Amino acid sequence: MRSNNKVIVGISGASGSIYGIRTLIRLKELNYESYLVVSSSAWKVIESELGYKKEDVINLASKYYDEKDFTAPIASGSYPTIGMIIAPCSMKTVASIVNGISDNLLLRAADVCIKEKRPLVLMIRESPLSQIHLRNLYELSKLPNVTVFPPLPAWYAKLKNIEEIVDQSVYRALRYIGIEDPNLKIWRGDE
Ligand SMILES: Cc1cc2nc3c(=O)[nH]c(=O)nc-3n(C[C@H](O)[C@H](O)[C@H](O)COP(=O)(O)O)c2cc1C
Repeated sequence: MRSNNKVIVGISGASGSIYGIRTLIRLKELNYESYLVVSSSAWKVIESELGYKKEDVINLASKYYDEKDFTAPIASGSYPTIGMIIAPCSMKTVASIVNGISDNLLLRAADVCIKEKRPLVLMIRESPLSQIHLRNLYELSKLPNVTVFPPLPAWYAKLKNIEEIVDQSVYRALRYIGIEDPNLKIWRGDE
């Protein structure tokens, strides 16, 4: 039995909300508890990209907190979690995190992970990346517990459809918070 199986999942308003959804589904399958917070922009993106209703998303998580709920346990470093995945992570969320701005619960939870030195994975999504984006990402990448992980397709894994492409990135993101997913396709050379 794991002593701590709580993972914070943040969904921000970048394109690619499917990454957050698949992360929630996979955590459940692997018997981890997901603590979900969704930004107000993300709710709009989820609806337009996936047509999901709020309840559809909330029901995938073990616990859900409103982005304004600063009384949530994940707003405090005293509450133990394994770490946090922000999937997808917008450039506004990146800019806020790097500047220590915590004016919603998603940002506060990320700030807590940084100060508590817990793993924080940023599944960033923007293209092209400006000098401002790259500067912010570079600053975050210097923090040892932060992984800047753009979910790019793993072409070497010969994935067959969008779901497989998304899931391979989700499995890989889980690794950076210390969860080894048996479904992750690993390149083994000529082995
Ligand atoms: C359909 C749609 C797609 C978007 N895609 C992106 C994106 O890929 N990357 C990004 O940084 N922002 C994107 N945005 C803009 C963000 O939603 C916006 O900057 C918002 O303020 C982010 O707030 P949040 O980080 O608190 O969710 C998109 C907005 C919409 C409506």
